[in-house]
Amino acid sequence: MSKAIGIVGIGSYVPDRIVTNYDLEKIMDTSNDWILERTGIERRRVADKDTASSDLGVKAAEAALADAGLSAEDIDLIITATLSPDMIFPSTACVIQEKIGAVNAAAFDLSAACTGFIYAITTAKAFIASGDAKKVLVIGTEAISKILNWEDRKTAVLFGDGAGAVVLAETEEGKGIITSVLGSDGTGNQLLYIPAGGTRMPASYETVDRKGHTIVMDGSEVFKFASRKMVEVSEEAVNKSGLTLQDIDCFLPHQANLRIIKNAAKRMGIPLEKVYINLHEYGNMSAASIPVALDEAVKNGHIKKGDIILMVGFGAGLTWGATVLEWNR
Ligand code: ACO
Repeated sequence: MSKAIGIVGIGSYVPDRIVTNYDLEKIMDTSNDWILERTGIERRRVADKDTASSDLGVKAAEAALADAGLSAEDIDLIITATLSPDMIFPSTACVIQEKIGAVNAAAFDLSAACTGFIYAITTAKAFIASGDAKKVLVIGTEAISKILNWEDRKTAVLFGDGAGAVVLAETEEGKGIITSVLGSDGTGNQLLYIPAGGTRMPASYETVDRKGHTIVMDGSEVFKFASRKMVEVSEEAVNKSGLTLQDIDCFLPHQANLRIIKNAAKRMGIPLEKVYINLHEYGNMSAASIPVALDEAVKNGHIKKGDIILMVGFGAGLTWGATVLEWNR
């Protein structure tokens, strides 16, 4: 029988600078009450002007390698999930590879927005299962503050910067990653996007003047989609695992909006004490949100050896995905 494939190291990093809702009140027409009531977010981290996604990703990656007891040379594949890459190309994964000295790795980026981490660990598992890689470093990293329109209160209040990383490999004990379900619906590709800066609308004075290089979102459509999909894909992944929702010890959703999370938990009958929530601290860190929450939940004892974890993400694309795993460390 083939061995289990699981997480053998985990780490995360968030920048020091904290921006509260009260700070945002001073620069845009918003209020702490509105943000808290509609989203659950109280504060977020913001990277300084010289820090890019790769810099955050490096810190998370180094912590994950140390936790795994591995050196960067042991890694044979790096997958970086990000919607805020350092540059259009080359990949942020290659930039991180250079900085950590992972000289034996292949490296690429994966674009699935806030579902990026779920897509990336699913891809990593497939590489290991096929024998094409043995030790894969998966990094979710975002410097979203750099691609926000700070004059748009509908998006600027929602996001934050940070990075989380895991090392995936065959494990001796436990089941590791039990199953994943991924999905996408490209008809929603313009519900959450950055219009300019690619080949559809190359950068020009006009695109800069119109703030075309920053995130645009139809919040209420994304909200409806997320509320529906979070439950559907969670149930599908749990069923595919041969488990029931009662078997879930920790529900760890993408941290975008407290109302979406609470509604999903309620509809699935998962009690709130089993739901891991940290979005009040960090806002929506997109591809970094799930690995940062996972690292935190492991370190603060919320997740223990043998626990069954349901991680679920949704985001631009539109994309969605869920992974069920047994925490085997
Ligand atoms: N402060 C004060 N008022 C605001 C703000 C703000 N920051 N933002 C919007 N408003 C106003 C609106 O202008 C509107 O006023 P109006 O009625 O006078 O026009 C009113 O508040 C209500 O706006 P809605 O957009 O209807 O508010 P809603 O309750 O839908 O909440 C929100 C908006 C929080 C964005 C919600 O729609 C949401 O969370 N959507 C999902 C977003 C999401 O999860 N995105 C991430 C996906 S993951 C990824 O791939 C990155």
